[in-house]
Amino acid sequence: MSDHFELRELRREDAQRCADLEKILFPGDNPWPRDVFAVEFSHPTTFYIGAFDDELLVAYAGLAMMGPAEDPEFEIHTIGVDPEYQRRGLGRVLMDQMMHAADSHDGPVFLEVRTDNEPAIAMYEAFGFTTLAVRKNYYRPSGADAYTMQRARLSDREQKNEGNE
Ligand SMILES: CC(C)(COP(=O)(O)OP(=O)(O)OC[C@H]1O[C@@H](n2cnc3c(N)ncnc32)[C@H](O)[C@@H]1OP(=O)(O)O)[C@@H](O)C(=O)NCCC(=O)NCCS
Repeated sequence: MSDHFELRELRREDAQRCADLEKILFPGDNPWPRDVFAVEFSHPTTFYIGAFDDELLVAYAGLAMMGPAEDPEFEIHTIGVDPEYQRRGLGRVLMDQMMHAADSHDGPVFLEVRTDNEPAIAMYEAFGFTTLAVRKNYYRPSGADAYTMQRARLSDREQKNEGNE
């Protein structure tokens, strides 16, 4: 395992490896198969990025842009890190990339996360996400509940910071 990871946008040929990782990371929650990833990558309003150890994809994440182009909102569709590579900063690196993309359009970001997923919730809170609501029985087939979380747009965060100064 190296300490240097290559980052690049994901392509169709990465879809199977993403599906394999999903099966490990989201076993009870309808993991996406290869074809879903392939469609997601090809969509013009999604941004999928991966981290590679040598040629092996070890972390992946996807952001979707929604709404009017002049005032878009964003949604994190997925993020996952190979269990053998977790807690080494890769989740943070992929989040940085996605948040930079959203901030460059001054858009808010939304996501859903299992209410019992403490590592992911801690990561999202570290990036400024707050909980908006609980969605009961959101995940299938597990029936687990989800939090909907939001990160305010950059201009709103800046305004709030100025107010706190
Ligand atoms: C959530 C996930 C992507 C984090 O990836 P990672 O590469 O391990 O995370 P990082 O090492 O970059 O850590 C970033 C922050 O996340 C939080 N975090 C990550 N793992 C954690 C854990 N086991 N316990 C508590 N906090 C954790 C911490 O705030 C951490 O910051 P810190 O290192 O300064 O304390 C990873 O645990 C994962 O793939 N989980 C399974 C898939 C999943 O649940 N995805 C989210 C679906 S909504």
